[in-house]
Amino acid sequence: MAFDISAFEQCRICVIGDLMIDEYLWGTVDRISPEAPVPVVCVERKSYTLGGAGNVINNLVSLGVRVSACGVIGTGINANLLLKTFAGMKVETAALIREQGRPTTKKTRVIAANQHVLRIDRETTRPIKDETASRLYALLEKDVSEHDALLVSDYGKGLFSPDLLKRLIDLGNHHKKPVLVDPKGLDFRKYANASIITPNRKEASLAAGIEIRDTGSLAAAGNKLLSGIPVNNLLITTGKDGMTLFEKGKPPYAIPAKARQVFDVSGAGDTVLAVLGTAVAAGLPLTEGAALANIAAGIVVSKVGTAPIEKDEFHNALNRHDKR
Ligand SMILES: Nc1ncnc2c1ncn2[C@@H]1O[C@H](COP(=O)(O)OP(=O)(O)OP(=O)(O)O)[C@@H](O)[C@H]1O
Ligand SMILES: [Mg+2]
Repeated sequence: MAFDISAFEQCRICVIGDLMIDEYLWGTVDRISPEAPVPVVCVERKSYTLGGAGNVINNLVSLGVRVSACGVIGTGINANLLLKTFAGMKVETAALIREQGRPTTKKTRVIAANQHVLRIDRETTRPIKDETASRLYALLEKDVSEHDALLVSDYGKGLFSPDLLKRLIDLGNHHKKPVLVDPKGLDFRKYANASIITPNRKEASLAAGIEIRDTGSLAAAGNKLLSGIPVNNLLITTGKDGMTLFEKGKPPYAIPAKARQVFDVSGAGDTVLAVLGTAVAAGLPLTEGAALANIAAGIVVSKVGTAPIEKDEFHNALNRHDKR
């Protein structure tokens, strides 16, 4: 693929979504608790990464894209941690709202002697307050014209009501800004009029009510979704099989995954949204954006842990593919 990703540095993207902190507590175990039959982990260090929509932002920043984060967090130390992390990444946070009484989503993994022994989630899926949704919309409305694309990263944590989704997709369309959605849930009609929706195989199967097992059922599910929702484009990601782009009125366009040694597939969907979104923001057609996203996602799954795509490795991979 002949494409110079330094063009991505000219793009400005707004990510609207459920932000999370992934916390890792690293320690050792040398005894079982006298209180219950559980290991006692002696914590030696902790580390943090951004999760959910935060991982989409991580990928964008890593590619040199200018990013605004839009979402709802709490008011405690975890919210401060997120804000401080974004400040360090030069992410614009004017549209991050702190809602009183709402926890900032945090998922803590306890790792002892390289074994994942426990995960602790602190989160709510309670809808945000109406007043918070109105403030969020107003902030977006003020800033939308300064962006080249809006990315909606829905992790089902209460940020997106159907009403807010409708308003923000209408806003993007009104300002001729592409709105790309990584969806959640069974009914994708709430994303009506988005530029493209990017479910994975399982999400697309559930939403279409068709189990995707092969090329035929994939095409049936894709076509059913396209005809049931007012959207023109759909990208179904299929893990080790790559992805298939459905554009209304055209045959499905399958892009096979790049064969690699796979270490950790989590977060690959976030990389797809980030790279496809930037490609569309830079004016590339969906077919090229999807091919770029597929290459980038193929790289991140070969890394240990959830890692964002990096500029140099992406650039090198594109040049390698070029020569083939
Ligand atoms: N085993 C794999 N080998 C090569 N590429 C892969 C593999 N798994 C995923 N990918 C790449 O990542 C993309 C997204 O993967 P997938 O369909 O699993 O998304 P996802 O389930 O939304 O991911 P997640 O929710 O974990 O972020 C695929 O379209 C493909 O390009
Ligand atoms: Mg996903």
